[in-house]
Amino acid sequence: MPTKLLIANWKMNPVTEKQVVRLAKASDASNVVIAPPFTFLALVRSVIKKAALGAQDVFWESHGAYTGEVSGVMLKDLGVRYAILGHSERRALGETDKIVNKKIKAAFNAGLKVVLCVGEPWQVRKKGIAPAKRFIEKQLRIDLSAIGKYKIKNNQLIIAYEPIWAISTSRSASFKDNADTPENAAVMMRFIRSFAGRILMNRNLLVFYGGSVNGKNAESFLGNSEIDGVLVGGASLRPKEFRSIIKIAQSF
Ligand code: PGA
Repeated sequence: MPTKLLIANWKMNPVTEKQVVRLAKASDASNVVIAPPFTFLALVRSVIKKAALGAQDVFWESHGAYTGEVSGVMLKDLGVRYAILGHSERRALGETDKIVNKKIKAAFNAGLKVVLCVGEPWQVRKKGIAPAKRFIEKQLRIDLSAIGKYKIKNNQLIIAYEPIWAISTSRSASFKDNADTPENAAVMMRFIRSFAGRILMNRNLLVFYGGSVNGKNAESFLGNSEIDGVLVGGASLRPKEFRSIIKIAQSF
C-alpha cells in the first residue's frame, strides 16, 4: 500500500442526493474508500474519479427470496470493492459472530475485500487490557472460522480495531468523543494481527483503527507503524476536516 488508507463510513448519512454529491466530491482521493448508504452507491460511483467504493453491509446469500437484503454479487456488479462487516452498530442490532462469519464468506465469494470490525465495550475494557483481548479473541475465532481456505491475498482482509467506547456516537461511552490513544490502540492491534494471523495462517493482514479519528488526532494514529489505515465516521461527514485527514494520510 503506497499511502495509508482511509475508509469513510458515512453510516446512515447524508440524506439527500445534493449533499451526497458535495461530500463525495470533497472526499475523492486515491487513498480513500467511501462507504455511503446503499441507496447512494451508484450516485457516489458516478461522482468519484479516484476513491474506491465500499458497502456498509452484505447479505450472506447471493440472491433469492430475502426481502430487503442486498447481496455481495449485486454490490460487486455495481462497482463496490470493499464491504464493512461486523460493525458494532450492526452487532448492537442483533448481528452475531456467526452471521458475520457467513457474511465474510459471501463477500469473499463475490470478490469483495472485507473490512471486519471488532472491538470491546467499555464494561469489558474498564476491567483491563487482558479481558478486552479475550473479548476480541472470541469475536475473531468465530468471525474468521473457516476463512483460511480463501487464501487471502495482501489487502483482501482488513481487520479494524474499533473499541466501541471510542466511537464518537457511542452512547454508552463514559467519555464521549474520546479516541483511544494511538499507543493503546497499537497494543491491541499488534495482538489482533498476530491472533488473526495464526487463525488464518496468514501474516499479510492489514489492521486499521477506528473510533473518533478526526482532523486533530489523525496524524498521531496514522503515524503509528502498527496502524495501516483508519475508519472514519463522524469526521468523514465534514468535508473540510476530512480533506485535511486525506492530506495527512498521503504524507505517510
Ligand atoms: P467515528 O465512527 O469516527 O464517528 O467514531 C467510526 C466508526 O464507527 O466506524
